[in-house]
Amino acid sequence: PPVRKPLIFDGMALPPFLPLRENAEKRFMEIRNLECRKDDIILATYPKSGTHWIWEVVCMLIKGNTEYTKETKEFFFLEAIPDLDVVHNLPSPRPLNTHLPYRWLPKQLTEKGGKIINVIRNPKDVAVSMYHHLLSAGEFNKDFTFTQFMETLFFGPVCTMGSWYDYVKEFEQAAENDRHGLLFTVHFENMKKNPIDETKRLAKFLNVEASDKFIEDIVEKCSFENLKSADKTIKDQSIMKKIVGIGPEHTRKNKPNMYRKGVIGDWKNHFTVTLNERFDRIFEDEMKNSKLHIHFE
Ligand code: A3P
Repeated sequence: PPVRKPLIFDGMALPPFLPLRENAEKRFMEIRNLECRKDDIILATYPKSGTHWIWEVVCMLIKGNTEYTKETKEFFFLEAIPDLDVVHNLPSPRPLNTHLPYRWLPKQLTEKGGKIINVIRNPKDVAVSMYHHLLSAGEFNKDFTFTQFMETLFFGPVCTMGSWYDYVKEFEQAAENDRHGLLFTVHFENMKKNPIDETKRLAKFLNVEASDKFIEDIVEKCSFENLKSADKTIKDQSIMKKIVGIGPEHTRKNKPNMYRKGVIGDWKNHFTVTLNERFDRIFEDEMKNSKLHIHFE
């Protein structure tokens, strides 16, 4: 079983970031009421959907060069940064990011015209990635199996950041109501299979003029292998480290591994036939009114 009792708020099991442990409701309200700018960009993802990856791509697009970020994603991670005031002093455009569901995103964001990028990854691979993330972070005992994780957490009443289904369906609804074209959806699987086209689509959404060469360079710099090997350097040079001396993971026993395999379909190596059948039944029922096409392959 998990090594500690989960922190629960609004039906979601929360990661053990200090601001959430101290007062989750306060931080959620601060995020909801965050002062926004019209050129804010927020990357909103269910955990383990490729947040770090798309964040690097977005940063390169808005900076206009292919250097890895000096700030690291964690610096703009709304529920994890020690002091949300830091965000107020950042230059525009701010590449904010969060795992909070749509209903908790800053109210002002849509009022002021800020852009929202939502990344969707198929829930079987999300579950596998989340299992390994939590295992490597020391959140479970080593003998806690994937099937046990699914039974107790993923299918359970409170999963990390709530149910995947609720999360994607809330965003689907928001996308249907998005009259001003402020919400962009990208599928992890499309990005993986067709990174050039998806990056071009992202550039267009962000109103960035990008040459084919620039797009190709971004895709190359943000490949799984390149990001994996750059990860340590990115973290080491992080100004977050210098400013606050800590990262959001400091309350954890170990640092989770963010770049594990980066593939589509690793779920096939983890799901038993019975577990898969159970998953498919739940999926079908939960998604019966959804028009989203989720790619499992
Ligand atoms: P795996 O655990 O399946 O390897 P997040 O950043 O939201 O925590 O998501 C992490 C997942 O995205 C990990 O999945 C990681 O390997 C994958 N990922 C990160 N960069 C990637 C890239 N450039 N290409 C493909 N997958 C990537």
